[in-house]
Amino acid sequence: METMQEGKARIKVYVSETVSKDLPVFYNPVMKLNRDITVLLLNSVDKKNMQIALPLAATGVRGVRFLLELKKSKIKSISFNDNNTEAVKLIKSNLKLNKIKLNKKINISNLDANLFILNSKGFDYIDIDPFGSPNFVLDSAVKRLGREGILAVTATDTGALCGSYKNACLRKYSGKPLRNEFCHETGLRILISKVQSTGTQYDKALTPIFSYSKEHYFRVFFKCIKGKKKVDELMKNIRYIVHCSSCLFRKTTKDIFNSNKCPVCSSKTDYAGPLWLGQLWDKKLLTRMCKNIKNSEDKKLVKFLEIIKNESKISSAGFYDVAKVVKHNKLKSVPKKNLLIKEIKKAGFNAAETHIRPNSIRSSIELKELIKLIKKINQ
Ligand SMILES: C[S@@+](CC[C@H](N)C(=O)[O-])C[C@H]1O[C@@H](n2cnc3c(N)ncnc32)[C@H](O)[C@@H]1O
Ligand SMILES: [Zn+2]
Repeated sequence: METMQEGKARIKVYVSETVSKDLPVFYNPVMKLNRDITVLLLNSVDKKNMQIALPLAATGVRGVRFLLELKKSKIKSISFNDNNTEAVKLIKSNLKLNKIKLNKKINISNLDANLFILNSKGFDYIDIDPFGSPNFVLDSAVKRLGREGILAVTATDTGALCGSYKNACLRKYSGKPLRNEFCHETGLRILISKVQSTGTQYDKALTPIFSYSKEHYFRVFFKCIKGKKKVDELMKNIRYIVHCSSCLFRKTTKDIFNSNKCPVCSSKTDYAGPLWLGQLWDKKLLTRMCKNIKNSEDKKLVKFLEIIKNESKISSAGFYDVAKVVKHNKLKSVPKKNLLIKEIKKAGFNAAETHIRPNSIRSSIELKELIKLIKKINQ
């Protein structure tokens, strides 16, 4: 075992050459960003006195960080749970290491996650951070999520969601993935619609307030509002994205009937969905998060949030991989990203880089206009 520093917490963890779920208790240092963003988001939302649940707590690092890094007014109670006995021992030991005394605000249990959640009276914040798919705890988490509660969901089974395993995605997430340049975005949006469909059964509208895709995982925070009308409104945003792999044309559509021929090059198109086409971020929250992180020494996180903030101003789904557009349409050369963004804006459209893929641009510009613009830059 080793003692690590993460944020303000000192954490005893098991280490091995590769991070694996076979560790006696799981800890992945790469997920520090996931935890950093969670702390930042909870410090930036308009909520106090939260009853917090960590059904899959592992070493307890996330909860220990909450206790050390969230503003005092934020936590009413915090409940750690893991079905691994070693994890529960380690959570207790990590709380002690950080001089956090056990009191009635802190609960620790060693149950199956669903039993832990369903045995409770409910929570204002539930953090689902599993190995692979979050599906096995979605139903209980949604049931016990309070009015205006926040549900955080991580999914690491990007192979299914991004289309490497199409049938797995259809089975587990009820959406067809599409293996193309923006497959991480469609994967993220399919995950969102899956979580939402769990909520709609109970008249709970789950709207994403902060979503991202990074390396091997997706992470989405949802705000829950109860009400049939809210749910009906939300469901209007469950749609499809049609895509042409020959010329890279794409469009969003309510249904996929009569949408299998590309209007640009006449090739056969394919589609992803049903998936969420509404907002990925709450703009006000994002502004607050950026403000709260502004003076941080963690320049990578500051930059990451800055990119997302600019990207959030553009509501279009999918983005352009500029090199791919150039190649597929036999254009001369790939323009510099910043120059292209400037030119797109000059032409009256919005544009920004996306956090999802390097050298790619989210923009309201249509493909044929983009091609014209790249040709002009190339002249
Ligand atoms: C990816 S780890 C959690 C990491 C942790 N949230 C963090 O931020 O470091 C997943 C944890 O879920 C626990 N787990 C898996 N299935 C479970 C279940 N059915 N009930 C309770 N805990 C479970 C595992 O023991 C493991 O500790
Ligand atoms: Zn086409």
